[in-house]
Amino acid sequence: RTSSSMDPLVAAIDQGTSSTRFLVFSATTAELISHHQVEINQSFPKEGWVEEDPKEIMHSVYECVERTCEKLSQLNIDVSNIKALGVTNQRETTLVWDKETGEPLYNAIVWLDLRTQLTVERLINKAPGRNKNHLKVQDDGHFFCFAVKLRWLLDNVDEVQQAVLNERAMFGTVDSWIIWCLTGGSSGGVHCTDVSNASRTMLFNIHTMDWDPELCRYFDVPMEILPQVRSSSEIYGWMKSSCLAGVPISGCLGDQSAALVGQMCFKEGQAKNTYGTGCFLLRNTGTKPVMSDHGLLTTVAYKLGKDEPACYALEGSVAIAGAVVKWLKDNMGIVQSSSEIEKLAAAAGTSYGCYFVPAFSGLYAPYWEPSARGIICGLTQFTNRKHLAFAALEAVCFQTREILDAMNQDSGVPLTELQVDGGMTANRLLMQLQADILCMPVVRPTMSETTALGAAMAAGAAEGVDVWSLSPDHLPHVTSEKYEPQINSDESEFRFARWKKAVQKAMNWET
Ligand code: G3P
Repeated sequence: RTSSSMDPLVAAIDQGTSSTRFLVFSATTAELISHHQVEINQSFPKEGWVEEDPKEIMHSVYECVERTCEKLSQLNIDVSNIKALGVTNQRETTLVWDKETGEPLYNAIVWLDLRTQLTVERLINKAPGRNKNHLKVQDDGHFFCFAVKLRWLLDNVDEVQQAVLNERAMFGTVDSWIIWCLTGGSSGGVHCTDVSNASRTMLFNIHTMDWDPELCRYFDVPMEILPQVRSSSEIYGWMKSSCLAGVPISGCLGDQSAALVGQMCFKEGQAKNTYGTGCFLLRNTGTKPVMSDHGLLTTVAYKLGKDEPACYALEGSVAIAGAVVKWLKDNMGIVQSSSEIEKLAAAAGTSYGCYFVPAFSGLYAPYWEPSARGIICGLTQFTNRKHLAFAALEAVCFQTREILDAMNQDSGVPLTELQVDGGMTANRLLMQLQADILCMPVVRPTMSETTALGAAMAAGAAEGVDVWSLSPDHLPHVTSEKYEPQINSDESEFRFARWKKAVQKAMNWET
């Protein structure tokens, strides 16, 4: 049935790398009722550094909340129907603030930031026998984790060192910052995070579900500056101000975990790929953590309630997906808006032998090579911006193919179709290219805001809220659209082999 103005509603804040959104769903039908989105600025103070302003993040959250409440009123929907609020966020991005003044002590260091390469080297030197896997809690990808960013802040920012000494420093990922601010900030805000976000920090023990004293010692991080780790679905606190004052905040999930929930991938073996700033393929491995032999990360997917078991996932991470389109727009001026890319690439219909490896922040899975840099190769006199646009979209698909192959090798049970979501999936050409390059169907939900939906589901299902059931019989029905491969596998393999050659060049561009 369709939702009515009396239905209980659940809201979600989706704070991503490039924008903040606030979305309101019907808890009865999962229908998206209203939403608002605000873009977020990134700054690049030095080569490889990526920062965001924590205050701008909070302003964007409040603006989205207020504007959505106004839109609901225009629809004659009473905001008091909103029974709970969930938070989902860009993961690993690292913040520190003063708990007395509520002021950030440095900009947020974004997950894409590469400043910690030296810190990682120093940490590896400290490990017995320089063994990279000495503390193999999260496998590869040391260079983008929270712990090394936090170490960098502790080593390099006087204000942070001073605040730690004075016991005024609070650290956290974006979820912690948002929840602390929304629940009162310096007048009693709740300093917490959930297991899915904590598992991205390299300080968390994914077996005991708590901060790991040995890891904290290794990184020399005082445990008292870390947030309390809670489940992904429970009441953390209540909104202190805004049009939603008094509403419980009861869901918290890193954005990739939230998308897994929003795509209803609750069964072992189910997977989804989300195309945001980066691209992240997560496969549910049930209540057992599975270690990868092919460059994937083992992560906590979610823990939907204090007394519920934690579920784990294998994750393939790609740093640059939507960000390549943003780069073509902002840095190259090839398109005026991101949505133009589809038309431009479609006009070419081919990359004309041009390959674009957007290794702007090194290469993530399965290579984990921070020193890789972007390259465009195969250019001829004939190549134009349309071919470049096509090659950029193909790059997103090739990178997904790489992580899907790794996932299939690790699990031994190949996926037969790929469930996708995220902003870029509105691009139909991209979806068709993805099916072609994977040689498998790609399934896209009609409502692509599955990340926010997942956070709303977690919030609505929390004990004490109880307006959303997560039992398999009550899951909302989601309509979807399927893209079937349209080229033969020989052609697909040929193009993929060329891509792999280009990747080798991106990894060895200096030699
Ligand atoms: O790990 C980083 C990831 O959570 C960022 O997601 O959607 O902002 O690219 P997104």
